[in-house]
Amino acid sequence: MIIGVLHEALAGETRVSATPGTVEKLLALGYSVVVEPGAGTASSFSDEAYVAAGATIGDAAGADIVFGINAPSAAQLDRLREGTTVVSLVSPALNPDLVADLARRRITSLAMDAVPRISRAQSLDVLSSMANIAGYRAVIEAANAFGRFFTGQVTAAGKVPPAKVLVAGVGVAGLAAIGTAGGMGAIVYATDPRPEVADQVASLGGKYLEVASGEVEISTTGYAKEMSDDYNERAAALYAAWVPDIDIIITTALIPGRSAPILITADMVASMKRGSVIVDMAAANGGNVEGTVKGEVVVTPNGVTIIGYTDLPGRLAAQASQLFGTNLVNLMKLMTPGKDGVLVIDWDDVVQRGITVARDGDITWPPPPVQVSAAPAKAAEPVIAEAAPAKPPMSSARRFTYVGIGAAILLLLVAASPAALRVHLTVFALAIVIGYYVIGNVHHALHTPLMSVTNAISGIIVVGALLQIGHGNTAITILAFVSVLLASINVFGGFAVTRRMLSMFSRS
Ligand code: NAI
Repeated sequence: MIIGVLHEALAGETRVSATPGTVEKLLALGYSVVVEPGAGTASSFSDEAYVAAGATIGDAAGADIVFGINAPSAAQLDRLREGTTVVSLVSPALNPDLVADLARRRITSLAMDAVPRISRAQSLDVLSSMANIAGYRAVIEAANAFGRFFTGQVTAAGKVPPAKVLVAGVGVAGLAAIGTAGGMGAIVYATDPRPEVADQVASLGGKYLEVASGEVEISTTGYAKEMSDDYNERAAALYAAWVPDIDIIITTALIPGRSAPILITADMVASMKRGSVIVDMAAANGGNVEGTVKGEVVVTPNGVTIIGYTDLPGRLAAQASQLFGTNLVNLMKLMTPGKDGVLVIDWDDVVQRGITVARDGDITWPPPPVQVSAAPAKAAEPVIAEAAPAKPPMSSARRFTYVGIGAAILLLLVAASPAALRVHLTVFALAIVIGYYVIGNVHHALHTPLMSVTNAISGIIVVGALLQIGHGNTAITILAFVSVLLASINVFGGFAVTRRMLSMFSRS
């Protein structure tokens, strides 16, 4: 079969659905590839590069399978023949007329934005790969519009405080934004109705701001649902309290198939400092911020810049095209079981069924619901995490009672022990107390290197065994030798593991 790569018709689109690199992979699957002239120019892939990769340059309309970033325009659709399979973004929930048109033309439409969020389909998930790029780029755009450093600095000319960044919505784009802003040295805060993201925020060095609402969003589809009025009111109170102190806000809140929820009101924008920047990533769906203009940059009367770009991935065109193209190659791998250049749609496969929105003249959207692996095992009764932390801290009275009981037991033991044992018992008790506080203050991520370095304590065994080795008794000498050997493995192995673990945390 022939795959045709469209020259994108949408004004301002810089991406292309196949790159010379992905063309080679499509050829390896047994397909021939035709690329429309100049299709890759805006993302810096020349026609010559496609030809060198094995494609031909020509009209994609005659191909059996047509690749596009965006759904073909009406003019492009008019050129396609019946039975063609089009693989592109479709947004079927927002574009029912387009889906109906595709079905009427008897075109099979595979919507890349309808890939279910299940682990098996991650390699095809263009929304995630594009959102990842967009989250990164949102921070770069914010940094460009922001008149200060992100990182705090102490210079001879004075101290520069770090920028404070708030990310609203911790999905793929939000996580990318948190990582990028944190990497640039900003202090990053983030909030999301899904409590399971708190750990992810922390692992990227951010601080999770929890909305203290009885309603917590337990994800069962990999996407969020619309939040209740109670949640929205509490979230609004949280934003109102935080935004006056925040320099940069990046909003990414998305509820699939609906217009974006307003998170930051005009009053909140008015309360921000002059020079602050907001990047409203949801601008294409109506925006999360009052005052956003889709595709534009506006500056409010109080000097806050609101960026509403909807083409953030296209601002890293070559990278975005490469990732999009790779997602399409992965789809083709899935749908070409014989690796013979013949596309086969497996109707029983939830991924292939899920993305097929029109087929043989029928509208096949929406597909049957898919329960995803990202869903927690059980959606239990919601818990107000802030009001009721998982494990309440121990009360002082209880703590003193435990310490008192421990001290009494130790005193009794010491009093009842022979003199030689008393010193050892006291050292043992002190070691427990000191060890508890020292290890308790080490971050969890560093427990393994901590454990391995404590293996060096085996050095004491080596010293003891060496003292015994010349004892004269053969059995003791053998035992001492074995002890030295085993303890040495522990010591040197411990240092080797520690070194390896610590290198994982070192920036260079
Ligand atoms: P996602 O579904 O992975 O993440 C969205 C997050 O928003 C979820 O974590 C969800 O729990 C959260 N959310 C939902 N309701 C919320 C609320 N009321 N308050 C706070 N958080 C809420 O989506 P993804 O892929 O990260 O995309 C994020 C946004 O970025 C979308 O709006 C998408 O359309 C947009 N986007 C924009 C681009 C651009 O060029 N401007 C490019 C790519 C994506």
